[in-house]
Amino acid sequence: MKNNRITQLLNIKYPIIQAPMSWMTDAKLVATVAEAGGLGFLAPHAGQTTNPTSNEDVIERMRDEIRKVKALTDKPFGVPFILSYDFSLIPHMVDLMIAERVPVVLDNGLLDPEIYAKFKQAGIKIICRLPNPNLPDALKAQELGADILVLTGFDEGGTLPMKETGSFSVLAEFAGKVDLPMMLAGGIADRKTVQAAFTLGAEGVWVGTAFIATAECRASEKVKEWMVNSTANDLLLFRTEPYYYRSLPTALAKKCWEMSESGASRADIAKVMNAGTGMRLGMLEGDFEHGYVSVGNGISAIDRVKSVKELVDELMN
Ligand SMILES: Cc1cc2nc3c(=O)[nH]c(=O)nc-3n(C[C@H](O)[C@H](O)[C@H](O)COP(=O)(O)O)c2cc1C
Repeated sequence: MKNNRITQLLNIKYPIIQAPMSWMTDAKLVATVAEAGGLGFLAPHAGQTTNPTSNEDVIERMRDEIRKVKALTDKPFGVPFILSYDFSLIPHMVDLMIAERVPVVLDNGLLDPEIYAKFKQAGIKIICRLPNPNLPDALKAQELGADILVLTGFDEGGTLPMKETGSFSVLAEFAGKVDLPMMLAGGIADRKTVQAAFTLGAEGVWVGTAFIATAECRASEKVKEWMVNSTANDLLLFRTEPYYYRSLPTALAKKCWEMSESGASRADIAKVMNAGTGMRLGMLEGDFEHGYVSVGNGISAIDRVKSVKELVDELMN
C-alpha cells in the first residue's frame, strides 16, 4: 500500500485506522496498532472493567488511558471527544485532548465551529465520521477544517446509520464532490474488501470488527471464538435508539430482536439492550445471557484469530 494523503496527514505507514469501539479498546490495542503501522483509537470505556461513577470519573479514566498509550508508543493515536450522550462532558474532553496533546481527534458529526477552531489552533488533526453520511454535513466538515472524512455503510458493527445504504454504495454520493480524503467504514475485514474500498474511491479504511478478533483485543475469548465460527447470516438486526443495531444471537439480542419484530418502541428496546452495560457484559465478560455482541457483516471473512500485526499486514500488503 503506497503513501497517500491519509498516511501523510496522520504520519503513519498504512492508511488503516482501528476504529473506536467502546469497551473493546485500550492502550495496549491502540499502541499495538500504532506499532504495526496503522492508527488506533481509544473509545468510551477504553481499558475499563466497570461503569464510571461520575462525569469526573469519565475524564480521569480517559486521561489515564491516554497516558498509558503515550507510555507504550511515540506514534500517533486518536480519541473521540464525544464519550456519552451527556454533552456537558464535551468541553472537558476538548480541554483534556488539548492538554494531553492527543494527535488525532474524532468528531462524530457534531460539527461545532468553536471546537474545530480550538483543535486546529492546537495542531490536532480532526477526523469527522458522520453518523448518517450526507453531502451537506460532509461539505460543512470540510469548510470547518476537518482533515479526513469517514463514510460509514450499513454493513458496520456498532450503532448503525439511519439509512440502510450498504458500504458498497455509500461513497458514490461524495466522490468528486468532497475534496477531503475519504475513508470507508463498514464490513472491511480482509484484503478483498480493502481493495473494493480503494476501487470505490476511499483513500483509507476504518476497521472495527476485524480488530475484535485479534489476540491483543480485550474482548472475551468466547466472543472471538463465536465470531470465527459465524457469518453475517447469523446476526440479528433490530431497531433501537437512535437507529439500528446488530448482534450475534445472545439471549439478550434475541429479546431485542423479538421486540423489534413485534413493533415495540425504540425507547423500550433501548432499555432492554442497556447499551453501555450490555456491551460490557456480552463482549468483555462473555455473558451471552445478559449482554450483546456487536459486530459487523465483515465477520463472514474472519476465519481465525490473528495478531494485530498479521491483520494489518494482510489488509495492507
Ligand atoms: C463493538 C463495537 C463498539 C463500537 N463503539 C463505538 C464507539 O464507542 N464510538 C464510535 O464512534 N464508533 C463505535 N463503533 C463503530 C466503529 O467505530 C466503526 O465505525 C465500525 O466498527 C466499522 O465497521 P466494521 O465493524 O464493520 O469494521 C463500534 C463498533 C463496534 C463493533
